[in-house]
Amino acid sequence: MTKKIMLSAVQPSNRLTIGNYVGAVMNWTKMQKDYDCIFFAVDMHVITNSRGSEDLKRQTYETIATYLACGLDPEAATLFVQSHVKEHAELSWILTCHATMGEVSRMTQFKDKSSKHGEMIPMGLFAYPVLMAADILLYQTNLVPVGADQKQHVELTRDLAMRMNNHYTPGWNKEGATTKPLFALPDPWIPKEGGKILSLQDPTKKMSKSDADPKATLFLNDTDKEIEKKVKSAVTDSGSEIKASDEKPGILNLLTLQSVLTGRTIAEVEAAYVGKQYGHLKVDTAGICVDTIRPVREKTAQLMGDLTYLDQVLKRGAERARERAARTLKAVSAKIGFIPTT
Ligand code: TRP
Repeated sequence: MTKKIMLSAVQPSNRLTIGNYVGAVMNWTKMQKDYDCIFFAVDMHVITNSRGSEDLKRQTYETIATYLACGLDPEAATLFVQSHVKEHAELSWILTCHATMGEVSRMTQFKDKSSKHGEMIPMGLFAYPVLMAADILLYQTNLVPVGADQKQHVELTRDLAMRMNNHYTPGWNKEGATTKPLFALPDPWIPKEGGKILSLQDPTKKMSKSDADPKATLFLNDTDKEIEKKVKSAVTDSGSEIKASDEKPGILNLLTLQSVLTGRTIAEVEAAYVGKQYGHLKVDTAGICVDTIRPVREKTAQLMGDLTYLDQVLKRGAERARERAARTLKAVSAKIGFIPTT
């Protein structure tokens, strides 16, 4: 049986957080055997809103090193950096010529981000979701695990795929069709509510790697001391009872962290705190976070000390990715009427 193709990517624009770990990478490590997995760092997406090549380079290495430190296996999954596979830029242009200003203008992320730029909106910011569509469609992807904020982009990807299939491979979706579509139609895969990690300083919003307050976020390379300090100063709720309740989002957040990191249910974790105080919960949660983050931090640091090894992993990953991407691009180019390169 052929495995379903699962693809996801992350912007190497900041350090990864424990929220990224719980919501994404931890699950991917469990899925890499059952799915044909493709994971990459989207450095070309980062330049839509930042400049500074040395930073980007280091962050890109660090993202890949962190993926590996979390347990992604470069043999089982295809692991690479977007800019190493030129097919992404090429397909992106072709898709740009099939997308409309109207549909791309409707992307809420574009509306949010462009409003900060006044009259000088970078074109890349507008084209961002089309590049993302190319990322996905190049690999005949079936499933795209993403946060809820990216769902609209995956839907646009699906619309573009459908449009091009209808135009270039008509009949592809008829009963008993023998025409192979240009693109598989991807489905977004949103992690179910419940395991979401919230800001330690404002537990009404998501923990974010770009939060202005460093105390709000646990990074996967924080020191033991930093982790302890942040968890112990986490904003909790009034009262003193440790209860998993929506009225106590701060307490619920700490219970959730313990639950997802130890594999126990929230109710099990909660039950251990009957008659105890917030301080107990914080100390234990800090300890569990330290135990989770420490090995990741140490392994990441070790890998960052061996860029030759990382380069080797990336080279192999890009070769594997390119082979697959080139197949799709070749089929698309042929339909469009580009003369094949010999
Ligand atoms: N836009 C995604 C984000 O900001 C990152 C991304 C780029 C992505 N290309 C992708 C995610 C392809 C999934 C699949 O989180």
